[in-house]
Amino acid sequence: MESDSLQTLYYSINRLLFRIILTFVFIKMTTVNFIDKHIIDINKIRAQFPILSRKVNGKPLIYFDNGATAQKPIQVIDAVKKYYEYQNANIHRGVHTLSQEITVAYENARITVQKHLNAEHAHEIIFTKGTTDSINLVAHSFGKKYITKGDEIIISEMEHHSNILPWQQLCEEKGAILQVIPINDSGELLMDEYNKLLSSKTKIVAVTHISNVLGTINPIKEIIELAHAKNIPVLIDGAQAVPHTKADVQELDADFYCFSGHKLFGPTGVGVLYGKEKYLNEMPPYQVGGGTIKTVTFAKTEYADLPLKFEAGTPHVAGGIGLATAIDYVNEIGLDAIAAYENELLMYATNALHNINGIKIIGDATNKASVISFVIKGLHSFDLGTILDQLGIAVRTGHHCTQPLMQHFGIQGAVRISFAFYNTKEEIDEFIKGLERAIKMLS
Ligand code: ALA
Repeated sequence: MESDSLQTLYYSINRLLFRIILTFVFIKMTTVNFIDKHIIDINKIRAQFPILSRKVNGKPLIYFDNGATAQKPIQVIDAVKKYYEYQNANIHRGVHTLSQEITVAYENARITVQKHLNAEHAHEIIFTKGTTDSINLVAHSFGKKYITKGDEIIISEMEHHSNILPWQQLCEEKGAILQVIPINDSGELLMDEYNKLLSSKTKIVAVTHISNVLGTINPIKEIIELAHAKNIPVLIDGAQAVPHTKADVQELDADFYCFSGHKLFGPTGVGVLYGKEKYLNEMPPYQVGGGTIKTVTFAKTEYADLPLKFEAGTPHVAGGIGLATAIDYVNEIGLDAIAAYENELLMYATNALHNINGIKIIGDATNKASVISFVIKGLHSFDLGTILDQLGIAVRTGHHCTQPLMQHFGIQGAVRISFAFYNTKEEIDEFIKGLERAIKMLS
């Protein structure tokens, strides 16, 4: 009897130990996985960007103008080079092998974009020249179909000119009214005011996901929900967002989402318009010509189905392929890891900048991406930018294509630094030294 109980106790202890070991192994595996996904191997990454090893004005390049355009990893450069060296042909038009091969590659690039945005259909992905082109497409085509006199279009005070001008022009043409969501001095949208602007006259809302000046990450899901409650579609300008964060168009329920390849570490001259099938099917072609048709007679043209209806002329084939390569590259690093690392850079730089005499940081939204714009009392942003350039430091200066936003803050322009995942705290230290030097020289 006693030996039976001892044996039972022995088995219980064994089972308990086994469970503890299993739990330990599980925790270890998931933690390692979690940590791996959140670590940026900065040396490995920097080595993949050839331009980062060049000197500018005799100094190692410090590239803090990622909001304007991001640098390209060797994988993207190689993909573009391979296209021109080995694969060059026109798509959708040839029976020959090269044309067929590249058509498959280009359509696979579209699928890569579709998966990245989690769009329901590949044909909801329209390749464009960039964000500006994508917004112009929607303003023209959606405008032609749905906007009439007295209708209202809502944008925000923090929009880039590319998300103002196409709507302003449309309003002028149609006699429609442009409504603007105001912001507070932290650079955040006044959501109550937005809600008040939404009405039965509103035909579309067009707002930026992340401000190119303030870095504000807008509550786009809430913006979309509020508009949808009144059956109003929403276009999101994702140009500044896609390098920093994941945009899931189905989760957001976005009607249109636009971005550029070159800010996402891909080639210039290529971009994306995601549009819900139900709108794109109804909207007329924007530009017409080769590639957009099913049949043409002098009496009438029958246009192609999506996405070709919106892709007139020979597209930027190398651009599409390069963009897909860039998306794969970014996903390999992981957008969560990128966001966490860039947030560290943002905090580090913001703290350091707060110690600079006479500085005013433009925008301190609670939810902010790695973009910092600032002015220094009494100094011109161009002068600061020019001296920093002499030190090999690339920053953006001027109005950043957001003159109404500059007017809100009562400034002519600002210096902007915007980080990518290949930037480092050491670079920020050098930048701060350079800025202090520039201020001294100009004061
Ligand atoms: N839109 C780009 C920027 O903000 C050019 O710098």
